[in-house]
Amino acid sequence: MIDSDDPFEKIKLNQTTAKDLDNADQLANFRSKFVIEDPNLIYLDGNSLGRLPKKTKDLAQEIVSEQWGSRLIRSWNEKWLEDTVRIGDKVGSVVGAKPGEVVLADSTTVCLFKTAVSALLSNPTRSIILTDDQNFPSDIQALKAAASTVSKDHKVVVIESNGLEAPVEELLEAIDETVSLVSLSQVAYRSGCCWDLSTVTEKAHQVGAKVLWDLSHSVGVVPIDLRKDEIDLAIGCTYKYLNGGPGSPAFIYISENCHDLINPIAGWYGSKDPFGFDPHSQPQNDNRRFLTGTPPLVSTLLIEPGVDLVIEAGVQNIRSKSVALSERFLFKAEKELLPLGFSVASPLKHKNRGSHLSFSHDSALAIGQALINEQATIPDVRPPDLVRFGFAPLYTTFLEIEESIDRVKEVISGGGIDRWKDEMPVVP
Ligand SMILES: Cc1ncc(COP(=O)(O)O)c(C=O)c1O
Repeated sequence: MIDSDDPFEKIKLNQTTAKDLDNADQLANFRSKFVIEDPNLIYLDGNSLGRLPKKTKDLAQEIVSEQWGSRLIRSWNEKWLEDTVRIGDKVGSVVGAKPGEVVLADSTTVCLFKTAVSALLSNPTRSIILTDDQNFPSDIQALKAAASTVSKDHKVVVIESNGLEAPVEELLEAIDETVSLVSLSQVAYRSGCCWDLSTVTEKAHQVGAKVLWDLSHSVGVVPIDLRKDEIDLAIGCTYKYLNGGPGSPAFIYISENCHDLINPIAGWYGSKDPFGFDPHSQPQNDNRRFLTGTPPLVSTLLIEPGVDLVIEAGVQNIRSKSVALSERFLFKAEKELLPLGFSVASPLKHKNRGSHLSFSHDSALAIGQALINEQATIPDVRPPDLVRFGFAPLYTTFLEIEESIDRVKEVISGGGIDRWKDEMPVVP
């Protein structure tokens, strides 16, 4: 792991050229570890789907031809059972978990449902689940499903925000003795606002409630210490800043103090002896009890090279560069994009943000389409009005930051909005 001071701390970010910033960047060589076929393509959507690590490409070939093609089912005993545990532990190390505390399983939404139901069942006298309106829609849907699975009295209360900042005061005020579970996304998918894990967790614990954090937009880019912050439960995806690949499995963290929690979707992979084929087999004693069926093995194995890169770079160093990239983008955007009808739709203070910035514009969808189709620049759009720019420090450069804003200006001045105003892609 690179162990160094923050190189950007000493540099006046906005009085230095992008080239000099790239030269000062200690993570610069990580870009060469990713497949970048078109160096002119500016990819600012690593907050949705991370780029492909070169090692993953080779590994995919090896898994399919050797491990599956040649070794066939022997690979389970030869390596796969061990591999899944090892990779879970590596993901765990990125979020401050001990070996065995993180397991890889299912999609993020399914992991959220499983952990939410188990937490609610462990505290049957309370019926309120608190979340906020910036949480990912799938999370709110899954929390509602968890509530109605447990009882007709359980209810999800959604705290309203101003759409920009995390509604800290309002949430803390709503945490009382009726609350069973507080469940939030640490970094919100639209505004990018970032919750302080410890403040919310401490308040929840004071009243005997549990917390369940979705770390999808923070894992690998925001320093997280689940043990230190005494987090009960956490889940998250591996395909954003961990670069695990489309649909790679999610992870579940369960702390020691939740050792009595029961997986509501029990199955053979979570049992003590899956290959004893005993229908009465008891759940595993450790966190593997939260597994259900056969893991998506190929996708699970392909997570490892991306996680290795994050571990090698160090999340603290990644965060330093993430802040520098986003501050630089914001500085230039405030001067050059706000006069073109954009407004900032993310917190202005970097300590309140994850690693993306959102800008609101009446023609967000058309701008997104024009950038992708005419300007070799990939941000993403969250309807109706947000263009999101994600900064993945392992491969985004400062020169790309400068250039991407010039390309947005080019779209606006070159009539791109008119050309793309009627296009509506399925994945915006
Ligand atoms: C914060 C957050 N939570 C949950 C999800 C849903 O993840 P999955 O499709 O793996 O269930 C996403 C997807 O992007 C997300 O951004």
